[in-house]
Amino acid sequence: MKRRILLGNSNPLSDLATVMLALADVGHLTEGQALLRFERMFAAQLGAGRACSFFAGRVALAAILDAIDIRAGDEVIIPAYTCVAVPNPILALGATPVYADIDRRTGNLCPHSVARVVSNKTRALLVQHTFGIPAAIAELNAVAREHSLRVIEDCTHAFGANYAGQPVGTHGDAAFFSMEQSKILSTGSGGIAYSANPEIARRLADYQSRSSFPPALVTWKMLCYLVDITLLGGPLYNSLTDTLSYYMKRTGLAHGPVTTDEEMACVTPVGILTRRLPNGLAKIGISQLARFEKNRQRRQCISEQYAAAVERLRIPTLSIPASAAPNMVRFPIVVADKAEIIRYMRAQAVAVGDWFSAPVHPWAVDQAAAGYRAGSCPEAEWAVAHIANLPITPRMSDADVQRVVNLLETFQGMARTKADEFAVAWP
Ligand SMILES: Cc1ncc(COP(=O)(O)O)c(C=O)c1O
Repeated sequence: MKRRILLGNSNPLSDLATVMLALADVGHLTEGQALLRFERMFAAQLGAGRACSFFAGRVALAAILDAIDIRAGDEVIIPAYTCVAVPNPILALGATPVYADIDRRTGNLCPHSVARVVSNKTRALLVQHTFGIPAAIAELNAVAREHSLRVIEDCTHAFGANYAGQPVGTHGDAAFFSMEQSKILSTGSGGIAYSANPEIARRLADYQSRSSFPPALVTWKMLCYLVDITLLGGPLYNSLTDTLSYYMKRTGLAHGPVTTDEEMACVTPVGILTRRLPNGLAKIGISQLARFEKNRQRRQCISEQYAAAVERLRIPTLSIPASAAPNMVRFPIVVADKAEIIRYMRAQAVAVGDWFSAPVHPWAVDQAAAGYRAGSCPEAEWAVAHIANLPITPRMSDADVQRVVNLLETFQGMARTKADEFAVAWP
């Protein structure tokens, strides 16, 4: 496969230059003026609220839980098709994540399921916009209003998506975003908490001021990690990059985003939920925001090409609410055998994703420790078995997209199945 010297962005050479400059500016790795500038630029994409930056999306969620006074004994409703980084900050407070089921046709929370799990201890509802497709916010907000619940939007997959003409992240009391490597806007690792409610925004800023920066050396190593993936990463799957990243991280030369073994066991290591985004990474965020609209359009164009292809191949995808304009982080497809297609496509250097590989992702997570009871959310368990996702990055050319589509078609043919057997018919 032809390799490109580019990554993560429609103009990665300029990203690389930004990373190199940030690496050289050793005096401002931790604190500096880029932080405030980045937060202001980010907030301006959403509205008149305030954005507070943190070291990861999970830290931004912890800040929001603090800002809306979630305490031990409270319950927070979350979808049973999510990442372990969502229940963990809730558990860390001694509060309880309560799982509501999704709708398999949308991949997002089912309002009826939410209504069924509300109790007199429920204080908040977390609405996740899975794969960048907005959830049914109007209906979910109505359930929340009826029970006086706070609404937290999980926009980690969905920066740049709109619902009813307004950006996701502006429909609840507060929202959080992730800037981890695989996300739409990426600083390697990072998160934003946003709120337009002045009191919540003040509390978020307060939480941020009580948090600490990672050591300068960690920031420097994160930037080294960005150099590695920027230089060697292709838009599709590249085992060399993966291997090199792995060894750079193992040998301590680079530091990438990690979910620790403790987090997998739903124990939050001390200090993880009070870390700030360092200045060196905020500079990368500024560079990415400057080209954000162009990148969003490219994602949209790739999504449309995939949508036309899966319609022709009769492979189902998730449905989009009428009033929603998604910004897809990856393109979901519904298949009979998820493991088989992932294996085949990876062998062809196409990173078909397994998000989510368990109701509380990834599969290695102790589901019971996360508070998930097997069988309680059958739609989510179905989605885990049948929803895979295709890569989208603004760096993908039309030829790259076509290659993915061709492989999908070949796989379909090889499986010697009719299209509606390869895919799964809706019930
Ligand atoms: C749905 C969802 N929420 C939250 C997170 C946490 O984001 P971060 O890794 O930046 O902490 C993730 C991580 O991928 C996610 O997929």
